[in-house]
Amino acid sequence: MALIDGKAVSLQVKQQVKQECDKLKTKGVTPGLAVIIVGDDPASQVYVRNKEKACEECGFYSVKYALDADTTQSKLNALIDKLNKDEKINGILCQLPLPKHLDDKEVINRIDPIKDVDAFHPVNVGAIMIGDYNFLPCTPAGVMELIHSTGVDVTGKKAVVIGRSNIVGKPMAMLLLHENATVEITHSKTLDLKSITKEADILVAAIGRAKFVTADMVKNGAIVIDVGMNRDENGKLCGDVDFENVKDKCSFITPVPGGVGPMTISMLMRNTLTAAKLQNGLI
Ligand code: GUN
Repeated sequence: MALIDGKAVSLQVKQQVKQECDKLKTKGVTPGLAVIIVGDDPASQVYVRNKEKACEECGFYSVKYALDADTTQSKLNALIDKLNKDEKINGILCQLPLPKHLDDKEVINRIDPIKDVDAFHPVNVGAIMIGDYNFLPCTPAGVMELIHSTGVDVTGKKAVVIGRSNIVGKPMAMLLLHENATVEITHSKTLDLKSITKEADILVAAIGRAKFVTADMVKNGAIVIDVGMNRDENGKLCGDVDFENVKDKCSFITPVPGGVGPMTISMLMRNTLTAAKLQNGLI
């Protein structure tokens, strides 16, 4: 078994983005990211802080808008409208989930697709579906980078994704398909899940249940990617994969933490750089 080091791969991506950012700056362009956070969800606050830190490391301009938990939809909409017009801002990210009285979909639809560095807008989702896109969704794109880092060719392999969310499962399957994997999407209602996952050369777990993938569900020599971020019975951070028992069956596996998590942020940096190039006619 070899561990896939998400921190190391993520650092490489950020270094590459910083180099390109330095080049853009010589042309008078500084990539700018606006991050909106509503309310005080502790996990969201950590994510947003990490995004700001990554912007600093890459040499980006970044602005955080922290809105009160009782902010109205119209105030949030007005902020997005302002950022859509702001030339210093190339990427807009509104941290999800939002408080219950606010509508995620309305927010996603309001962000100008060319500034949608999450790639959540229907225009960008459609572009991904047909394989003609500017932005890749950050977590699935990060997973692809981690798979590439193993040196294993995805072409022809059987890939199984556990989870069908719009943020991870569905786009993940599409990116694997673009690289010529034979892909199956499974989920909480799949019958005899084990018989499917046991066939997977590449298994991506994104179901949001602590230690859900056990050793008997994994093929010998598989690449196992764990997108989960859960707390175990002792409150310790853990993934969707029962790491201790699964690791010896795999050729490669990602740890939690230190696997997919750091990649998501690096891919956001890459998307923001791409957005800056696109908006300045440099692509
Ligand atoms: N909340 C959890 N993951 C994400 C993400 O990738 N983007 C946004 N906007 N919110 C999130």
